[in-house]
Amino acid sequence: MFADRINRINPSATLAMTAKAAELRAKNIDVINLSVGEPDFNTPENILNAAKKAMDLGFTKYTPGAGILDLRKAITEKLSRDNNLFYDPSEVIVSCGGKHSLYNACQVLFQSGDEVIIFSPYWVSFPDFVSVTGAKPIFAETNPDKQYEPNFKDLESKINKNTKGIIINSPSNPTGGVWSNDAVIQTLDIAKKYDLWVFSDECYEQLTYDEKFTSIATLTKESDKILTFQSCSKTYSMTGWRIGYTVGNKDVIKAMSKLQGQSTSCPNSIAQYAAKEALIGDQKFVSKMRAIFKSRRSLIVNGLNAIDNVTCDSPGGAFYVFPNVEYFIGKENNSKVIKSAADLSMLLLNEEAIVTVAGDSFGARNNIRLSYAASEQNIKKSLEKMEKILSQIN
Ligand SMILES: Cc1ncc(COP(=O)(O)O)c(C=O)c1O
Repeated sequence: MFADRINRINPSATLAMTAKAAELRAKNIDVINLSVGEPDFNTPENILNAAKKAMDLGFTKYTPGAGILDLRKAITEKLSRDNNLFYDPSEVIVSCGGKHSLYNACQVLFQSGDEVIIFSPYWVSFPDFVSVTGAKPIFAETNPDKQYEPNFKDLESKINKNTKGIIINSPSNPTGGVWSNDAVIQTLDIAKKYDLWVFSDECYEQLTYDEKFTSIATLTKESDKILTFQSCSKTYSMTGWRIGYTVGNKDVIKAMSKLQGQSTSCPNSIAQYAAKEALIGDQKFVSKMRAIFKSRRSLIVNGLNAIDNVTCDSPGGAFYVFPNVEYFIGKENNSKVIKSAADLSMLLLNEEAIVTVAGDSFGARNNIRLSYAASEQNIKKSLEKMEKILSQIN
């Protein structure tokens, strides 16, 4: 019945956990959700007001496909202010979230016969964006002890005449890893050598805690084949507004606009006015949120490392930690063998009502992902509960 393309993609990895968590909640169990991929703050007031004003002024109609010019101008202003990137509005397209931006770009550039390099562990959607086009995702190894920077030998060994692109995501979901400029430059050199398109998913660009973020396209003089993807979702706690954008090669942007024009028509008009305020209005919210996440990062990293047989590096960004739980795999809890990180994640949910995401779905069998977009109180409570349950595994 279905076209092949739908069989090439997988349902969201977190669905089973979400369903199980909902089941527990329905039984009045106090579930702590450490699986969320969005900041636990409300969208700032100035942004809400901009949306209300847009509605009052009647900006409730279709907009140009690539987004209103005012917003695309605001994006170029933001990029020069924060990222040292200088683009013209004609090199910008606004889409319905960063996810939509990445999806569209994959549709425009990749097809059957192509291969696209994705670094593992990867954000769950990257392989699916590639597979749905008919192209093949190829996974390259990274170094968990160095913020999940590439294993360059492995990377070059995975490139062949069919390789068309490479997807970089620093700060990363799920690891929180932030690559050094050296690692990025080395990756860009390889991409250049093989004439590859480089996708830089920078949706966590404002959430780095040890060093200021460097946008990848600033690290080379030849950025013509680099597409930069950013989003309002994480930076301004605007996940539900669905505004993301792509900047780069004008021809690619034009092709993406053509595709978008025949699919979603345009991004939501009201959200576009809100996004303009988000990007060029008061930025205090961002630094406040960053400081809160930084302090939670210390709390969760220290807490995890204090649990016997759990190791957790301090990730440079995003709001995830990715502890190694290999020790527990193959061991028993109440005479039941824990066969995988997914089993361990399910155990944490069933026994202590803590929702995490197993690394299996991110291409990392020995890890689980915990999001610290949760209150300090809940982080502390979940660490105590984790310590209790993990100490019983032998
Ligand atoms: C790595 C990464 N890229 C892109 C996105 C897309 O976010 P949005 O579509 O809300 O902009 C997410 C969201 O979780 C993400 O983690």
